[in-house]
Formats: sequence, C-alpha cells, structure tokens
Amino acid sequence: MTALSVSTSSAASLRADALVIGVAKGPKGLVVAAGAEAVVEAFDGKLAEVLTTLGATGAEGEAVKLPAPAGLKAPLVLAVGLGEAVDGAYDAEDLRKAAGVAARTLAGSKKAALALPAVSAEDVEAVALGGLLGSYSFGAYKGEVAKAPVAELVVLTDRKGSKDAKAAVERATAIGEEMNRARDLINTAPNDLNPKSFAAIAQAAGKEHGLKVEVLDEKALAKGGFGGILGVGVGSANPPRLVKVAYTHPKAKATLAFVGKGITYDSGGISLKPAGHNETMKCDMSGAAAVFAAVVAAKRLGLQVNVTAWLALAENMPSGSATRPGDVLRMYGGKTVEVLNTDAEGRLVLADAIVRAGEEQPDVIVDVATLTGAMVLALGNRTFGVMANDDALRTKLHETAGAVGEASWPMPLPADLRKGMVESTVADLANMGERMGGGLVAGLFLQEFVAEGIDWAHLDIAGPAFNEGGPSGYTPKGGTASAVRTLVRFAEDTAAGK
Ligand code: BES
Ligand code: MN
Ligand code: ZN
Repeated sequence: MTALSVSTSSAASLRADALVIGVAKGPKGLVVAAGAEAVVEAFDGKLAEVLTTLGATGAEGEAVKLPAPAGLKAPLVLAVGLGEAVDGAYDAEDLRKAAGVAARTLAGSKKAALALPAVSAEDVEAVALGGLLGSYSFGAYKGEVAKAPVAELVVLTDRKGSKDAKAAVERATAIGEEMNRARDLINTAPNDLNPKSFAAIAQAAGKEHGLKVEVLDEKALAKGGFGGILGVGVGSANPPRLVKVAYTHPKAKATLAFVGKGITYDSGGISLKPAGHNETMKCDMSGAAAVFAAVVAAKRLGLQVNVTAWLALAENMPSGSATRPGDVLRMYGGKTVEVLNTDAEGRLVLADAIVRAGEEQPDVIVDVATLTGAMVLALGNRTFGVMANDDALRTKLHETAGAVGEASWPMPLPADLRKGMVESTVADLANMGERMGGGLVAGLFLQEFVAEGIDWAHLDIAGPAFNEGGPSGYTPKGGTASAVRTLVRFAEDTAAGK
C-alpha cells in the first residue's frame, strides 16, 4: 500500500522521483497554482509558457510531464489540471481529483512529492486522500503487474506548525486505506469472496482494530428465523451469513446502524439474469463493503459515536434447492413475503438485517445497497439515490455526500407505489411491485421493516458502486467504494452533534 506523509520542505529541495504541481485554466490561458513557486523559479518564470507550448491548458484530468531544470532535486515535473481557476481557490474535490490523476500517472515510480495548492488542513487532507485513492490498483490475479502503484507520496504544505496538516494526513490515511480495502473486496472474484470468506475477513479486521464481530452462520440464521437471508442463500453451495461489526465509544451520545447488502454474486437465482447482465454481479456486495469500511474507519478515527455495521451476506444462485418464484418466506420478525422474482433478492436480505438492527434501538439506520437497475436508469452511473422516512435525514445525507465529493440525489417514497407491492394474494407482502419507479418500490419495501420511531435512510448505489468505464480522477476501474466517505462524514457530524 502506498505510504503517505506530509512535509514542509520546499518543493525544490525534496528528493523524489517526481514533483507534482497544479495548473489551471485562467481567463488568459494557463496559470500555475500556488505551491509551485520554486518550480516556476527554476524555469526562470517561464513555466506557464513552456507548459502552454506543450499543449497544457489546465483542464481537469490533464497530466503533462516535463524534465526538471537544474535547481530542483526531482528529475521530473508533472503538471496536473485543476480545472477553472476562480480567484486562485480550488475546492477539495478539484484537489482530490488532481492528486488522484497524479498518483495514477506516476504508477511505477517510487516517490512523488505533491506540491499542489494545499492551503488549509482540509486541502491537505483532500490532496492526501486523492493521492491514496488514485494510487489504487488491483493486481491479485495478475502474474505480472505492468506498473506497481507509486510507493510513497509526500504532501507538501507551507502551513506553519504542521500539526493539523499531520492530523489531516492521518485522517486521509484511515479513510483512504479502508476505501481501498473495500475496493479489493468488490474486485475479488466471486469464487474467492463468498459469505463465509467475507465473514472471516471481517473477523480478522475486528481482531486487528479491536472491534466486536459476531457472525451468524446458516444454522444460527435458521434458529433465529432469518427467512430472508436464508431464502436468498439456500440455492448456493456457499451458505449465507449475517455479520455484526460493532464500534463503541465510552462517551458516545448516539448510535448509528449501517446495514449493507452483501450479495457476493447475483446470478438472479431461478429468475436468472440473461447473459450480459451478470458479468459484473460480483459487485453486488458493495453495500456491505461500504458499511464495513465505514465502521473500521470510525474506529481508526476514534469518533465519539457508536457505529454498528450489519453485513447481510448471501450468494444468489439457481439450483434444485433454490427459492422458487412463488415461494413464501417468513422473514426475521415474522412478516411473510411472496417471492415473485428471485432477482429482487437484495431487499430480502436487507429486510432481515434492518429488523435485527432495529431491535437494538439505534438513533438512525442507514442501509447501503446496489439495489436496483431502475436507480441506474434514473440517475446514471455516478450518482446514488437517497430515500428516507424522514425529510431532514434525507436532506442531511444528500448534503453530507455533496460535502465529501460524492454525487447523490434525493428520491421520494410515493405512497401510491406502496399499494402494488403489498398486494400478494398469499403473503403480507410481495417482493415486487409496479415496474415503473422500481427503485422507489424497493425503498418502500425496505421501509416496511423499519421499526416504529427509528429514522431510516436508504442509499441505492447500484450506479456508482462499480465503474465499468475507464479510470478518472481518483476513481479506478471496478469497485469504487461508493458511499464510504458519506457514511464516515455522517458519523463524524453525528459525533459532533451536527
Ligand atoms: N443487484 C441487482 C441490481 C443492480 C443492477 C445492481 C445493475 C448493479 C447494477 C438487483 O438484485 C436486481 O437484480 N434488481 C432487479 C429488481 C427487479 C427484479 C425487481 C432489477 O433492478 O432489475
Ligand atoms: Mn438481483
Ligand atoms: Zn442484487
């Protein structure tokens, strides 16, 4: 894993394989951002002209390499685009993206210094986090990795008294490493990551970080009456698990429950997905990976709040023992559900976990799930949907996501869509309702399982969880660790009474 540190050394004197600077689009052409003064000097004040000659414009995503002149200790200068320069100020997301592009471009080198415009501690954290996330690569199955991730990133800042800058880098390290761990889980092939092996990974992380982990295996699930999780997992040779990972702080004033959909592979079951729709369905445990990463990060940051993550893990497969369309499941808590489509499995495992989480009377439940294709149709590949049984909570999560650079949008839970879903001729509920507004129908289904008086929100991350396109900014191909930063910031705000 890439090592992160912070330094107040000047960009000219730090020994590194590459020196990264920021450039932006100014009203009269390319401008060099603050932090690169020593580099401008080494180029006799002609750096902007040289870069313009090379075709650089300062646009977001741009990366231009040039050999360093005498006077700099690094042999290579890498100029990365920050986008529009508005009064020379750059927001945290611009910095994260630029640092991410730099880290990705410099894969294969040992040490890079980031001389980006990091003024506030928040800026330092953004550069550090973008760098760590951008250096991610998944090479578990490759005989030969073309280029190893850059081994060491040094964030340069001229902040006097680097104490808060150091704390900012430590925060970025905790969040970035846990996000990269979530990405590894998502990218791991489904023949290696199944409910049992995921639970074992959670247990090992619990030991490492001092978190309480409890695992219910298929026997315990049967004894406890978890008909939803069992019904989804019963067709697979890999039996299901419900994992509870608890972080408690002695001075906590609030308790958050994060519930994650953990379908380690979604074939659709007997309602089998057609070819072309299942190649990426190892990503269907991204919600569980997100809540797991968030609880470990909460612990590493020592947040003054209790966080419990619930991982609802199952593999959805067709077989002679699989749940059939037409079967009725008795869910945890006693409600019955007629399974009309075995591909609507996420809501079944989540329902059990939401009821179980509710028993512990948390202040808030947030579930995270790659739940519906309908949400991808509605919001695209980069934005997750936010639904809630409380308007203030929905607004809060949407704004929290925006504050950490995650795109989301508030979605309704229209009462009229509930009707079609509760209509089962034989059971209390059916797991399908109207086709139109399918993402909202799924949210309404989950709402049925939220205990009276508990605020609940649902993040449908089916779009942004897995990037099938090329890498961009700090986002790689494959698993992205969507929603982790939103959950961590939400826990931080809760701890701060915000
Ligand atoms: N895991 C899928 C949803 C999904 C689709 C995630 C695309 C990521 C990308 C989910 O289990 C599913 O199959 N949902 C069905 C529900 C339908 C049968 C009511 C869907 O969206 O088609
Ligand atoms: Mn499905
Ligand atoms: Zn699914």
